Amino acid sequence: MRIVSGIQPTGNLHLGNYLGAIRNWVKLQDEGECFFFLADLHAISMPHDPAQLTANTREMAAALIACGVDTDRAVLFNQTQVPAHAELQWLLNGTARIGWLNRMTQFKDKSGKNREGASVALFTYPVLQAADVLLYQASHVPVGDDQKQHLELARDIAQKFNNDFGGGTEVFTLPDPYIPPEAARIMSLRDGTAKMSKSDPSDMSRINLADDPDTVMKKVKKAKSDAEPLPSDIEGLDGRAEAKNLVSIYAAIAEAPVADVLRDFGGEGFGKFKPALGELLVEHLRPITERFTALKDDTATLDSILRAGAERARAASADTLDAAYRALGLLR
Ligand code: TYM
Repeated sequence: MRIVSGIQPTGNLHLGNYLGAIRNWVKLQDEGECFFFLADLHAISMPHDPAQLTANTREMAAALIACGVDTDRAVLFNQTQVPAHAELQWLLNGTARIGWLNRMTQFKDKSGKNREGASVALFTYPVLQAADVLLYQASHVPVGDDQKQHLELARDIAQKFNNDFGGGTEVFTLPDPYIPPEAARIMSLRDGTAKMSKSDPSDMSRINLADDPDTVMKKVKKAKSDAEPLPSDIEGLDGRAEAKNLVSIYAAIAEAPVADVLRDFGGEGFGKFKPALGELLVEHLRPITERFTALKDDTATLDSILRAGAERARAASADTLDAAYRALGLLR
């Protein structure tokens, strides 16, 4: 297995990122060769503050290590330090079709009503994402459900490139998404129909991995819920988006089936369930938060980890980049 995935360093690592993706990154470290990166080039597709982006890049590296990304077993780097990502994106721009990009729901969501005012980078963002994974011949890409469409596009681009320019060889491997069924989409604590997201203006909508125990408990207790007791079976969660989300979070953290959680809490109200969920979260996050706090201001260590990771990533991607240039007839 070749495992590749990225995260934008645009703010705090939250519970959605952790349960949807990062926990699987950590688990997959024993299953194959892993490349994990900070998608800092993607982050310039939206308005941003340069100094903040630099700080967030280091901070996200610290957060990933705190979650268990082990730089002895996985290559951790930031995209900018491996120029092959940007180079391959340009090469793939010749293969990706405007019609394909027009269908991307994330572009529609993020550009909103102001499509004409969105950056070109926001539109071509999925082509860079395709380059990110194709560059390493990724077989598996651990992500949350919201990235599935981008990965399908990466497969389409790889397939068309192989057909058009491969001359009978597979220049690129077709990557498969690796999505955790139980935590594919963690929802906002304020609205069970909206995804938990870094860009939500309300910090109460998400649990950040750096939140202290009091804050975690407060956010869980104030999370939107309803007046009914919890049901005893999964069907009873239908039409109760907030209840379903909180039970799913419990199940994902406890690594237990939702049915087991409902067996324990069915018939109980949120007055009992929320404190139990809060405590479970606090205990699970405590060692992560401690490691994060110890590492986050150690700029020298973080920079040297990223430099070493980039060196390994540059070496691992060189042959594929070369093959792509050659396939296109570009004289190097
Ligand atoms: P990003 O930075 O928005 O999110 C990082 C990872 O967290 C997952 N995720 C969630 N999973 C479940 N529930 C949620 N509420 C939730 N919110 C976020 C995302 O699915 C993602 O796996 N475009 C990507 C970054 C990227 C990338 C790549 C990913 C760039 N290149 C190549 C994989 C492969 C993004 O913005 O993720």
